[in-house]
Amino acid sequence: MTDVAGQADEESDGDRRRFAQYHFAVNNILHIYNRMKKLSLFVISLVICMVGLAQYRPAKENLNARKQFQNNKFGIFIHWGIYSMLGDGEWVMNNKHINHEEYTHLADGFCPSKFNADEWVKAFKAAGARYITFTTRHHDGFSMFTTAESNYNIVDGTPYGKDVVKALAEACRKHDIGLHLYYSHLDWQRLDYPLGRTGLKLGRPTDRQDWESYFSFMNRQLTELLTNYGKIDCIWFDGWWDHDQDPSFDWHLPEQYALIHKLQPACLIGNNHHGAVNQGEDIQMFEQDLPGQNTYGLQGDASISELPLETCLTMNGDWGYSITDKKYKSTEKLIQMLVGAAGRNANLLLNVGPRPDGQIPVEALERLKGIGEWMKVNGETIYDTRGGMVAPRDWGVTTQKGDTLYVHILNLADKALFLSVAAKSVAKARMFADKKPVGVVKANDGVLLQLPAVPTGVDTIVEVQLK
Ligand code: GLC
Repeated sequence: MTDVAGQADEESDGDRRRFAQYHFAVNNILHIYNRMKKLSLFVISLVICMVGLAQYRPAKENLNARKQFQNNKFGIFIHWGIYSMLGDGEWVMNNKHINHEEYTHLADGFCPSKFNADEWVKAFKAAGARYITFTTRHHDGFSMFTTAESNYNIVDGTPYGKDVVKALAEACRKHDIGLHLYYSHLDWQRLDYPLGRTGLKLGRPTDRQDWESYFSFMNRQLTELLTNYGKIDCIWFDGWWDHDQDPSFDWHLPEQYALIHKLQPACLIGNNHHGAVNQGEDIQMFEQDLPGQNTYGLQGDASISELPLETCLTMNGDWGYSITDKKYKSTEKLIQMLVGAAGRNANLLLNVGPRPDGQIPVEALERLKGIGEWMKVNGETIYDTRGGMVAPRDWGVTTQKGDTLYVHILNLADKALFLSVAAKSVAKARMFADKKPVGVVKANDGVLLQLPAVPTGVDTIVEVQLK
């Protein structure tokens, strides 16, 4: 028994030892596992942080494109789509609560018999514009280009059957003018679009919303736009604000921007979100107001960034064709907006809303012609310049190219103009128009330019040579 008992004791000692060893090993494994778990969690969060904080580094060609964009100074915005047929602006579907299915029948009748991409681009170029921005797909969701993503497009869905983006891309290449593409984030037609604050009265079912599906649709379309039409100089986003009342809504912009920059690194990205610029954006955009102004109330708290700037502006009060809106700004006013933009280091993107037949309204053509005539004579003081060393004033603005400061007097009732530039840095000054000398008198903290007469006309330009 004893033996048996002794044996039993030895066995239980051995068991205890084995158990203790086993316990020790398990503890060690658990400890290592926990350490590993903490470490991997740490590594994962580190990676997430790094991705989140990763600074967007624009490619060299992108930085060059930004300079080119700033040199260009003047572009033409074109709002044209099946909405043009209703002659009531591009928001007509939303504003008139047009049923989403009924609206699609507009496409069945869209046949712009007078559309001629070459004529358009020639008129824009003659106006002095160096790029166009075309609405490839506006909020109504209709694609003005051929797309494998939906039949709701100009090639498959209209009797016209031709790709106007292709025609415009060819005309732009032929006439050496840049091509920018407007693309709406917001969509009033697709059922997978996650509804925001607009387009809620169009009879759409609300149970088919699917962000993943909509996001990949947009990215596939953007891929088409950036692969099928040659060099695209800018993607111009709009509609972000449809979800601005839901701070948790995530448009996944970094992923979309990265896709664009991967497909065409030089392609500039701008987003008309009216707010401060986001990572991945290459230009900052302003709507209806010059940077620093906010008469329209759209600028929110957007501070002016270091990025190239652009202000878009309607010629009358509408973007899309309006059959009743004849409140066109005068040619003089439009020239002053262009000069005012340049003096604020910004480009002007001036809008035209072609008619459904494809013709540009005559009022717009007249103004384009007038701007073109002015630019032919004065373009030297606008193109390739940057906002001048004297900030915008009530009397006007300055632009600058190297040592030449162009003083644009837009509004002055006196024969002399005080310029806050140290006298010792001014070599001489002359009228830009007839090169007649302008007296420069030293004054406190600046100089007084003695003009030959009280300035009249759209823009009196003095060319100041700096030392
Ligand atoms: C606004 C409008 C849109 C227009 C755009 C142009 O965002 O919603 O219709 O295309 O401005 O800047």
